[in-house]
Amino acid sequence: MVVTGDMAEIQSWALFAEFVAKEAGETIRTAMKAEKNITLKSSVVDLVTETDKAVEAFIIDSLKGRYPDHKFIGEESDAAGQKAELTDAPTWIIDPIDGTTNFVHSFPYVSVSVGLAVQKELVAGIIYHVMADEMYTAIKGGGAFCNGNAIKVSQATEMAGSLVVTEVGSGRDPSRMDAFYKNLEAVLGTNAHGIRAMGSAALNMCMIARGSGDVCYEYGIHCWDMAAGYVIIREAGGFCCDPTGGSFNMMARRVIGGATESICKQLSGILTHIELEHDGRASAS
Ligand code: IPD
Repeated sequence: MVVTGDMAEIQSWALFAEFVAKEAGETIRTAMKAEKNITLKSSVVDLVTETDKAVEAFIIDSLKGRYPDHKFIGEESDAAGQKAELTDAPTWIIDPIDGTTNFVHSFPYVSVSVGLAVQKELVAGIIYHVMADEMYTAIKGGGAFCNGNAIKVSQATEMAGSLVVTEVGSGRDPSRMDAFYKNLEAVLGTNAHGIRAMGSAALNMCMIARGSGDVCYEYGIHCWDMAAGYVIIREAGGFCCDPTGGSFNMMARRVIGGATESICKQLSGILTHIELEHDGRASAS
């Protein structure tokens, strides 16, 4: 099979991924009500459940069955030792449950996040907001949608008066926490209207894409938390960059995503930045 990855082909791949994400969501909805089998990963606040693993296996098996030449980066596969590797091949970047801590506590803000990169470029994003039954989708050059209706970012150009979304993340080391507190203070100092931390980086990016928040940022996340959200924000008319103001790098474990370049750059200018070990073995734009 020759893989070209043109728009029509990407569209058909994304449509199938949407179907798979919805099926995965059904499993998560059912499991939300049952007892969870929890284990720890990188820290005492970095959780994984049997459902995360089962849903990731389901998504990868479904996509692999249909597209045997495609490659996969998955949160739980990575945790099991299969390190994220981005090549030119069509690569699906999967977070089976983004918001595992929410899932564990039955807090209804969890998503299935599936991004697609072709020749190392992110070209499609699918995020299913499981408990709200909202399917966010975008293909590069085709706009962004929620349940088939076009979505757009807000018009916010400055931090004053904005609604900002961030996360504590799943690490608690002192240098990261120190920067986290400094950053909260800096954001509040701009007269932003408020800060929200709801527990799913992928859904946070959807909130920015639909104009329900103006800018989001986080240090310490991974490529599977932000790959799909990047495409959705961009296609909704928004902007994404590295928190230092440089180009977005999905392997760099940090991001700013916002309604406009102007608000992202303003936020970048007040944040205390931290360096994190990159995901995987290759970098992507
Ligand atoms: C986490 C969520 C959370 C973010 C963490 C992520 P997970 O993903 O997106 O909002 O703060 O950095 O690790 O572990 O629930 O898939």
